[in-house]
Amino acid sequence: MYTLNLHDLSLERFLAEFWQKKPLLIKNGFANFIDPISSDELAGLAGEEEIESRIVSNAGGNWQLETGPFEDFSQFGETNWTLLVQAVDHWHPESAQLIEPFRFIPNWRIDDLMISFSTPGAGVGPHLDQYDVFIIQGMGKRHWRVGMPDASLTQHCPHPRLLQVSPFVDCIDVITEPGDILYIPPGCPHDGISVDASLSYSVGFRAPAQKDLVTGLADFLIENEINGDRYTDPDRTATQAVGEITPQDLNKVQQLLQQVINEPDLLARYFGSYITHAKHELDATEPDPHYQVDEIAEYLQEGSVLARLGGLRCCYIQQHPDDDILLFINGNTMTVPAGELSTVKQLCEQVQLDAATAASFAEDPAKLQLLTMLINLGYWYFIE
Ligand code: SIN
Ligand code: CO
Repeated sequence: MYTLNLHDLSLERFLAEFWQKKPLLIKNGFANFIDPISSDELAGLAGEEEIESRIVSNAGGNWQLETGPFEDFSQFGETNWTLLVQAVDHWHPESAQLIEPFRFIPNWRIDDLMISFSTPGAGVGPHLDQYDVFIIQGMGKRHWRVGMPDASLTQHCPHPRLLQVSPFVDCIDVITEPGDILYIPPGCPHDGISVDASLSYSVGFRAPAQKDLVTGLADFLIENEINGDRYTDPDRTATQAVGEITPQDLNKVQQLLQQVINEPDLLARYFGSYITHAKHELDATEPDPHYQVDEIAEYLQEGSVLARLGGLRCCYIQQHPDDDILLFINGNTMTVPAGELSTVKQLCEQVQLDAATAASFAEDPAKLQLLTMLINLGYWYFIE
């Protein structure tokens, strides 16, 4: 278990003064840090077809990028290359633990854990990201420079798939050591060059763009065959300009579009399902054969422990205190009675169901039914 130590800074002050505003170095943010994964294990994950990985190298200022899977690293030599593996929380439960201390930000804003292994002199170059990130220094040391957003910076591609930024003025210039954490808000230029062989863990966040929200909404309407209302104009008078779409016409189109998102139930169902869809592949395996409800009850009563699949996105929406709850798990929507709020919270908050929760599930037919369905989807699994 990792505990975040903000030292003299309270969480409230961190959120008010730094979150989405200013970069911050949290020196020794994880005291006595122990890497949850070795570089060899990371290299093993990069050999898997379903896991997204890339190697960025910069020997002699020649930037190269290759995508995995990777079997053999010998061609890259001893320096100036970085292996980056995406969504390691989906595949490596010990590494997934690194996300937990940041759950003061809700599940739906959390993206994934990216881990990089860098040789001396390596980095991905100075760049900007669109998302907030906490970068935890694991083994080794890394020279980091971070600046404030600056509209005068320009972006360029030293390689077709690498976007870098022009030289920037830093407000943080530090050599990070194991357990140090850098918080970098969106749009802040940063550059991390490895001093020796090092591991970096990036807890990344997601913030949907308007384009993606509108596309997701369109997909939701199509999938659910929701046609909605159609444009009407019973008050139409003869036009003097047959080619013109008038401001009044446009205003009615705007209202028609707004009506869709002004429908609270539709918006909730759409957004919950959209935002809980996994972006990267999940390591879900459906049990074969499926479990029966009474088998699950028996296992829970015997003290078996259930874990949640790494990277599984679980959120809920309850519009008013007595309303049914919409529970969203990996894009699936389940309607749960208002009285079951604690059950829903347990599923969303606990990465392992504790003994008391497991016992309460075992005794209640409705909860057992829900849990059996989730286990049979491969979303929760027995670990002991
Ligand atoms: C890295 O871990 O090498 C890159 C992290 C970042 O700058 O976003
Ligand atoms: Co970055």
